[in-house]
Amino acid sequence: MYSSVIVPLVYLLAAVLFIFGLKFMAHPRTAVRGNLFGALGMLLAVLITLIDLVRFEFIVGGVLVGAVVGGLLAVKIQMTAMPQLVGLFNGFGGGASVLVAGASMLVVGSEVAASEAGGGLYVMLTATALSGLIGAVTFWGSLVAFGKLQELDWFRKPFHVPAQQLINALLLLATLGLAVWMITSDSEMARGWLYLGIVLLASVLGVFLVNPIGGADMPVVIALLNSYSGLAAAATGFVIDNNVLIIAGSLVGASGIILTQIMCKAMNRSLGNVLFGVLDAGGLAGSADEMYATVRSTSADDIAMLLDGAQRVVFVPGYGMAVAQAQHAVRDLGRMIEDRGGVVEYAIHPVAGRMPGHMNVLLAEADVDYEQLKEMDEINPTMGTVDVAIVLGANDVVNPLARTDPDSPIAGMPIIDVDKARTVIIIKRSLSPGFAGIPNPLFAADNAMMFFGDGQKAILDIVSAVKEL
Ligand code: TAP
Repeated sequence: MYSSVIVPLVYLLAAVLFIFGLKFMAHPRTAVRGNLFGALGMLLAVLITLIDLVRFEFIVGGVLVGAVVGGLLAVKIQMTAMPQLVGLFNGFGGGASVLVAGASMLVVGSEVAASEAGGGLYVMLTATALSGLIGAVTFWGSLVAFGKLQELDWFRKPFHVPAQQLINALLLLATLGLAVWMITSDSEMARGWLYLGIVLLASVLGVFLVNPIGGADMPVVIALLNSYSGLAAAATGFVIDNNVLIIAGSLVGASGIILTQIMCKAMNRSLGNVLFGVLDAGGLAGSADEMYATVRSTSADDIAMLLDGAQRVVFVPGYGMAVAQAQHAVRDLGRMIEDRGGVVEYAIHPVAGRMPGHMNVLLAEADVDYEQLKEMDEINPTMGTVDVAIVLGANDVVNPLARTDPDSPIAGMPIIDVDKARTVIIIKRSLSPGFAGIPNPLFAADNAMMFFGDGQKAILDIVSAVKEL
């Protein structure tokens, strides 16, 4: 009664909570509630699974170790390192699927596991092979993505693999071949070795797939790996016959694919182009000095005077605002401009920062009115009527090379058209490039001026200067 009725019912309740959680997370106003629903669903699913198990001392040990590591990470992690952490968590999800599916087949034994799972042996073995393949690609791909986002030395430049696409295709074919062999093999021992082979080849494939991708395409990769981690979990759900894992994995897989599509649309790229396109971010670096020969810089006092006469001011935040934690100062400056009769808006690029919704989260944390946040498509047609655009720690998302240089790694990516505003102020510490590693001609545009410095300090200086007007 308990295992056959209560457990499935609680799993169903957890699944419903996940679905409502996702629905509520679709809007900033209800996002906190959505998070709570999701967490409650997960708590119920974990508790009922623990109670349902006859021997759960290993699980308790795992939960304790995981809770300590996760708790420490959550407390210590910088907000700006959140995308790397999310990338790493995707990888751990994939790794866990590889281990659980493999252990279920190897330790419990394929036939026993299949009979316990209630499904046929072939279904169970197919799901195991898929868990091994997708999970290993996710784990190693996510580790490489982590290295790139963390800007570790090893991952700054992709290593060169001759005929990369051909090798990837051969690796995939070989992995699928091993999977078919494993599924049709009669020997438990052989299945174990073949599973190991699948995991090893898929691991190399995971590294090779993510290695050449970089620059502005990373958001797409992270979203895709997120989706893969869900698919691996769903496959593992079939291996161990756990409905909540199948449902939660499918939800992650599906929402990850939707996010991947949104990111591709934001970058104006096809998924194939991101995965199989060749990246070369270094080509333009040499021309930066020439490009920046006419850069002009300005001061807080001059910016305050400019703002004094401005009727429409648009802030364009980017990753640098997150690094500088300048969102509260920006809100204060925005309110001062409004008190003086100006209209203030915030232009949000879909891939500004390092994770989807990064800027929205920071500005919401600073209590900026949600109505003032304008999406790129909404604000771009009106950029010509903006008196002052203040670009705060953004670079790639306002780089006009996306429109003008077809060889640029961000070619075709829609940008916020700040160059069309009457005056553009760019606040950053230097002329260094952004994530895509390319120079930005906006800095030297006729209507642009640089205000060099840390984002928070720069805005606070402008606030003081406005007060003194
Ligand atoms: P970026 O192009 O990365 O530029 C950020 C700029 O902030 C840098 O040029 C840096 O210049 C400046 N900065 C750093 N610290 C600062 C500080 N303390 N104060 C002031 N400025 C500071 O950022 P973006 O325009 O937001 O574009 C995002 C990029 O990241 C895109 O290429 C996107 O594809 C990629 N990406 C996005 C995501 C998601 S989902 N959003 C995920 C992964 C990658 P200085 O060093 O000169 O100060």
